Amino acid sequence: MEVKRVKLIYFSPTKTTQKVLESIAKGIGAQDVEHFDLTLPEGAGQTITPFSEGDLVILGAPVYGGRLPVVAIERFERIKAAGTLAVPVVLYGNREFEDALLELKNLALELGFQPVAGGAFVGEHSFETEDSPIAHGRPDGQDAQKAVDFGAKIKDKVAALASPQALGELEIPGRFPYEGGAMAMSISPVSLEEACTLCGTCATVCPTAAITVEDSVVTEVELCIRCSACIKNCPTGARVWEDARVLKMIDWLHDNCGARKEPRVFGVG
Ligand SMILES: Cc1cc2nc3c(=O)[nH]c(=O)nc-3n(C[C@H](O)[C@H](O)[C@H](O)COP(=O)(O)O)c2cc1C
Ligand code: SF4
Ligand code: SF4
Repeated sequence: MEVKRVKLIYFSPTKTTQKVLESIAKGIGAQDVEHFDLTLPEGAGQTITPFSEGDLVILGAPVYGGRLPVVAIERFERIKAAGTLAVPVVLYGNREFEDALLELKNLALELGFQPVAGGAFVGEHSFETEDSPIAHGRPDGQDAQKAVDFGAKIKDKVAALASPQALGELEIPGRFPYEGGAMAMSISPVSLEEACTLCGTCATVCPTAAITVEDSVVTEVELCIRCSACIKNCPTGARVWEDARVLKMIDWLHDNCGARKEPRVFGVG
């Protein structure tokens, strides 16, 4: 079989997932690469062109509490496939990916895809700060190269396949029933009045439309999924975490997750 088109379908608030998917697509080397970014509310409802022969889909999402973000699952759930080859990929912040990749593989199967290979890559942790870096700058050059190599191996695996039915079961580590998940906490970052210029950027990057900027920045805390996109995109550094539990967790991650973890790939060579 030949990969004619690569379709990247992803939820990626701070864009590390998107970057890795792009590197994998580069390694596959297809001429035609289409993006379906389901991160923002306006992207979530976009039409995903029907899959056809020669398509390979790369499904990507970050790991939240060792699982997939619930919002990502909801956004993927309206995709329908009938045997199209797919590669589930998760990005995690150098702590652990636990059940998230297995969950994404199983979701891919439920949506009608045939999982061909899978990968867990490392991205800069959403919660990292200048004072407490956690996997800062990842995916870096080495990660990008590993993603490109993974793409090349996927291409070879697909080229050697007579039909999708010839694929064996893709073995992915993880527990089922799944455990973990992002903790239920009604909290969100805050905007520091003295540094905020009311530019509105935070509102435009929020995946759940939790932020409104008028005379002040108002955040609907119940909608916040703690993705930290608003913090990473604030041009003046006015958007920060102040909640003591989050600050403690950032310290813990910084102190305990410093040892570099490498990407892991499954189903190829
Ligand atoms: C609520 C939340 C929970 C997270 N849980 C984990 C986790 O369990 N393990 C881990 O290593 N990283 C965890 N992370 C970090 C992200 O998985 C990581 O930064 C990822 O690269 C973000 O992907 P994105 O850039 O596509 O948004 C978490 C991030 C958030 C916001
Ligand atoms: S992005 Fe930063 S400066 Fe702009 S409105 Fe939001 S908090 Fe204020
Ligand atoms: S308000 Fe919450 S959900 Fe919205 S961008 Fe900020 S951290 Fe993410």
